[in-house]
Amino acid sequence: MKRNILITGGAGFIGSHVVRLFVNKYPDYRIVNLDKLTYAGNLANLKDIEEKPNYTFVRADIADLEEMRRVIREYEIDGIIHLAAESHVDRSIKDPFTFARTNVMGTLALLQAAKEYWESLPEKYDGKMFYHISTDEVYGALELTHTEGTPAPFTTKASAGEHMAFGTEFFLETTKYNPHSPYSASKASSDHFVRSYHDTYGMPVIVTNCSNNYGPYQFPEKLIPLFINNIRHGKPLPVYGKGENVRDWLFVEDHARAIDLIFHEGKVADTYNIGGFNEWKNIDLIKVIIKTVDRMLGNPEGHSDHLITYVTDRLGHDMRYAIDSRKLQAELGWEPSLQFEEGIEKTVRWYLDNQEWMDNITSGDYERYYDDMYKNR
Ligand code: NAD
Ligand code: DAU
Repeated sequence: MKRNILITGGAGFIGSHVVRLFVNKYPDYRIVNLDKLTYAGNLANLKDIEEKPNYTFVRADIADLEEMRRVIREYEIDGIIHLAAESHVDRSIKDPFTFARTNVMGTLALLQAAKEYWESLPEKYDGKMFYHISTDEVYGALELTHTEGTPAPFTTKASAGEHMAFGTEFFLETTKYNPHSPYSASKASSDHFVRSYHDTYGMPVIVTNCSNNYGPYQFPEKLIPLFINNIRHGKPLPVYGKGENVRDWLFVEDHARAIDLIFHEGKVADTYNIGGFNEWKNIDLIKVIIKTVDRMLGNPEGHSDHLITYVTDRLGHDMRYAIDSRKLQAELGWEPSLQFEEGIEKTVRWYLDNQEWMDNITSGDYERYYDDMYKNR
């Protein structure tokens, strides 16, 4: 079946993997990637698919309601996968207003533009879908009851044996929202707006809440790419607080596969948690990264250990995130395809093999290039 799908934030980290998957897997779909190209957007993430006939790029701001109306109408959009957002917690602590503007007002503008267009059609909401990508951070923070990982109270195929957990609680789809950072508060607010458009106007929506993603093309302000790059340059690795915080890591292509599955087969108005069953204490993860980078660079073991530098903690730093994604597994049959050891090998290898991509970002060249390119449009 032919479809016209709008993917927002497709020049960012996760969005670029979703765009690539859809463009390659569905030649009959027209994929419109709409992105403002903020500091986090980089069209170099999509070099391999940008010439494909079913791919179109539109530079626009999701908070611009008129522009959202125009794009949705012009491309006769019937499905939206909404990833565009300000995504970095540290930036939200310094500048919460930008997060409210993009994540809350931007999502609202997109919802409103879709509503107006879809309600103007004879078939109305039939065959339409507004799929909103959210985060596990909206649920707040879990307690760290075990300082060493212990077997979780459930095992899954995904965890290939034992799922080591740092606490007894997990985020479920029914867990009450309790966001702490301006970032997670803005995402929580946008989730509520999305659900309100279903409950009030009958718009077909789905919300998914995912854990920490890792993999190629992640902006090097986030822990894993930042640390890989710093190790390469012999620069300090700033570990917040004691490095005891726990995150649940999922390989980004597994998230993209889940999005594909849920977009096509998910239940309207439902919520699915997506997670890796893969909890790591930051400091343990950092040691794995150091070891892997040193090995790949041919350095002796322990060569870069001295780069670990404990720094002042992030304000309001959430202690532990851990997703229970058994609902998605049971209802739609999704599970992560990669073991973490394999995923981290692939990831470190990718950053070391793509130093030009990284250097373009750290030098700021990527932003100047696109600013020049779009200046007169
Ligand atoms: P990212 O920061 O790498 O990319 C965000 C993209 O959105 C960029 O291309 C940016 O240019 C674009 N954008 C920002 N503001 C915009 C605006 N006003 N209009 C149009 N485009 C705009 O983010 P990411 O890590 O890829 O995250 C994508 C989505 O997934 C976000 O909604 C985030 O909340 C969610 N999420 C991320 C993670 C994670 O671990 N990275 C986990 C769960 C959920
Ligand atoms: O859980 C999903 C979320 O994961 C997404 O919604 C966010 O968009 C995404 O940025 C990510 O948030 P985190 O804050 O968990 O990711 P970050 O990579 O910034 O940090 C991971 C952990 O590492 C966190 O406990 C803070 C710590 N950290 C981070 C940086 C950048 C450090 O100790 N030092 C650092 O320099």
